[in-house]
Amino acid sequence: MPVTLIPRPQELTEGDGEGLTLTPRTRISATPGAEDSLAWLRRELGAATGFPFAPGTENDARIRLSVDPHAGLHPEGYRLIVDDAGALVVGHDPAGVFYGAQTLRQLLPADAYRQAPLGDTAWVLPALTITDAPRFRWRGAMLDIARHFQPKREILRFIDLLALHKLNVLHLHLSDDQGWRVEIRRYPELTRKGAWRTESQVGFSSPLVFDGRPHGGFLTQDDIREIVAHASARHITVVPEIDVPGHSQAAIHAYPELGEVGKIPVGTRWGIFDEVLGVTDNVLEFYKNVFDEIIELFPSTYVHVGGDECTKTQWKNSASAQKRIEEEGLADENELQSWFIRQLDAHLTARGRRLVGWDEILEGGLASGATVMSWRGEEGGIAAARAGHDVIMAPTATSYLDYKQSEDPDEPIPVGTLLRTKDVYTSETVPEKMTEKEAAHVLGAQVNVWTEHIDTPRRLDYMVFPRLTAFAEKVWSSGPRDYAEFEPRLREHLHRLDAIGVEYRPLDGPLPWHTRPGVQGWSR
Ligand code: ACM
Repeated sequence: MPVTLIPRPQELTEGDGEGLTLTPRTRISATPGAEDSLAWLRRELGAATGFPFAPGTENDARIRLSVDPHAGLHPEGYRLIVDDAGALVVGHDPAGVFYGAQTLRQLLPADAYRQAPLGDTAWVLPALTITDAPRFRWRGAMLDIARHFQPKREILRFIDLLALHKLNVLHLHLSDDQGWRVEIRRYPELTRKGAWRTESQVGFSSPLVFDGRPHGGFLTQDDIREIVAHASARHITVVPEIDVPGHSQAAIHAYPELGEVGKIPVGTRWGIFDEVLGVTDNVLEFYKNVFDEIIELFPSTYVHVGGDECTKTQWKNSASAQKRIEEEGLADENELQSWFIRQLDAHLTARGRRLVGWDEILEGGLASGATVMSWRGEEGGIAAARAGHDVIMAPTATSYLDYKQSEDPDEPIPVGTLLRTKDVYTSETVPEKMTEKEAAHVLGAQVNVWTEHIDTPRRLDYMVFPRLTAFAEKVWSSGPRDYAEFEPRLREHLHRLDAIGVEYRPLDGPLPWHTRPGVQGWSR
């Protein structure tokens, strides 16, 4: 039986015997550190097969999971051996065991991704040996739940789908002009007022069209704790983003003293606006308190402070902003933004965390501890790496999953530049212009799922898959990537997504019910 694995493992050798047939008597064992993978395998394979997969011992278990940092494996790496005696997963660390368990599931028929047995599936793991490890340590996806709120159940499911693809970072974009999406105990108005807007812009047309329908939602702190724990059990770090000092209209609506011009509504249009945060001591104090609650909720070392698309018009006309520039001896409003980000960098660093920001944080000088997320092309990443900072590559042209997937006129609400599955797959993560030393600062890459035009979970599936599958192989697998070799494997992989019920975009284009007739997009 040919095995189709995504992401492609480093080494795969087919074995001789019959392999292992799973039965109701198959037991699974785990050494310390592998318990979460045991629990995950029992739950997932148990649901699909109807078998109990009772916990076993090293002696009676046919599937054995173990952690061994001295097995000659790389971080997050694993070895999976299937022979007539059973299946053995050895991970360099607990994450490695988990990825081995994910691969083990992929060795089974696609029905292994269903929630109940169909009754006639042969559950055979073929004899083979796989040795594997990821190329990059930051393999991420950003989900914007600010523009259109995505409910908790969808975020949990999204995490499962990231894990299936061996991705390990979920970056949650939690605040923007159009909504504040995380409960902050100290400032309840952020969600009481800031999580709701009166209506939403639909597509991009002139004049603008609005749906006339209120939209909103937010995650409670218990929801966040649940999401973080669910992700952690799947070796995924949830990186929170509170976007400052631009993209803050929802916060300013809730607490008008944060802004420069008094009360404003939660945004209903998409774009970049003049309403930004003030730079007073009170505003800084407010956000330090917000970030203190954020770091209490999210154990992630990296904390994202946004920093993108902050227009400077209001600061140019603001007495308090101009006073700050003068007092701090700053050259201009760009340096004022840097000053603001530096205050947060110092605050986060003092608490053992590291600041991440969009590449605009380079303008006016980079904060000392900052990691840069390069989105306006590769230049920000290159400049930051050159200055000795770590970077995460997420350039629009290869990483923005809100961008259109074809030039088909039926492509729903097409925005941005063309970004096909093939383009995601074949693009290279490390900029060609980087030296080896600079390239060592590339922690990895992520795709960004902005949701201005993704108003439902069904549409989220359509935009994310199968491009995320292509991305996963790009950041996990080493060696050359040939789309002609990948595509047949992708077609096989889609059976897994079908079994889960993922409503991905068909490779041949949108089906009639995917289209959004009459809703215009915008193009680059
Ligand atoms: C961004 O796309 N504004 C980071």
